[in-house]
Amino acid sequence: MATDVPGAGAAEPAIRIRGVRKAFATGGREVLALDGIDLDVAAGELVCLLGPSGCGKSTLLNAIAGFSPPTRGTVVANGRPVTAPGPDRAMVFQEYALFPWMTVERNVAFGLEMAGATRQEIRAKVDALLAKLNLSDFRDRFPKDLSGGMRQRVAIARVLAIDAPMLLMDEPFGALDALTRRNLQDELLRIWAELRRTIVFVTHGIEESIYLADRVVVMTYRPGTVKRIVPVALPRPRDPASAEFNALKREVSALVMEEQLRHEAAEGRATAD
Ligand SMILES: Nc1ncnc2c1ncn2[C@@H]1O[C@H](COP(=O)(O)OP(=O)(O)OP(=O)(O)O)[C@@H](O)[C@H]1O
Ligand SMILES: [Mg+2]
Repeated sequence: MATDVPGAGAAEPAIRIRGVRKAFATGGREVLALDGIDLDVAAGELVCLLGPSGCGKSTLLNAIAGFSPPTRGTVVANGRPVTAPGPDRAMVFQEYALFPWMTVERNVAFGLEMAGATRQEIRAKVDALLAKLNLSDFRDRFPKDLSGGMRQRVAIARVLAIDAPMLLMDEPFGALDALTRRNLQDELLRIWAELRRTIVFVTHGIEESIYLADRVVVMTYRPGTVKRIVPVALPRPRDPASAEFNALKREVSALVMEEQLRHEAAEGRATAD
């Protein structure tokens, strides 16, 4: 792995994570959520973080976002050490982070209003984004009147409006039915191909990770470390029914299953104590 000085040249990754450890103290007990994480994400790359529940995916994403600093180690994003959230890193949460009292249009416009954009700029940008995400007919609706898939679409439109070079997505499609999920995955890929943002996408879906990612980062269970990085060289659009796709799926499943079993064994030991 390259160890260039941050900021030194064009090959500088969009995200550089070195030696990241994160311990939580809860009820007098320490939980080591992450340990010894080293990872580079290239500008414009789409990387999936994959692993069983509790392996530290959200913790790692939050460290990149700057919501919760690591106990040890460093995260550099867009050439600057991460010490707090910033407009260069936009987060899409698993729960639809929409304002229920605002219409679709106002939700999408919110970040632009905060940034002090003119009415004209806001209007042009919001119109374009609503069209891009097939939401134009729903601009005056409130979140409660939308399906889950549409709400998640609004959440994506809202994050795209901010124009951050980096999108951090924490299981954004986890709660959706299979068909809606596939639609949104395709939409995300379309937008990514057009805008070339850097995306870190957290999921526990093996197929989802192989469908989306340039590289799948498989994490170990507690402490979360990088178990294996699996490059996905298949051309897009990918066919989940193809032999190549299924070969990768088997490989990644075996890695995840190992961690799942380790997790269950550890839980068994904990119960037996
Ligand atoms: N604020 C916190 N305080 C204490 N422990 C925490 C906190 N946040 C996370 N943890 C612990 O750290 C570990 C990793 O949690 P994290 O939420 O990052 O996992 P995850 O991989 O995102 O899981 P899931 O797939 O269920 O969302 C878990 O054991 C969790 O209980
Ligand atoms: Mg999580």
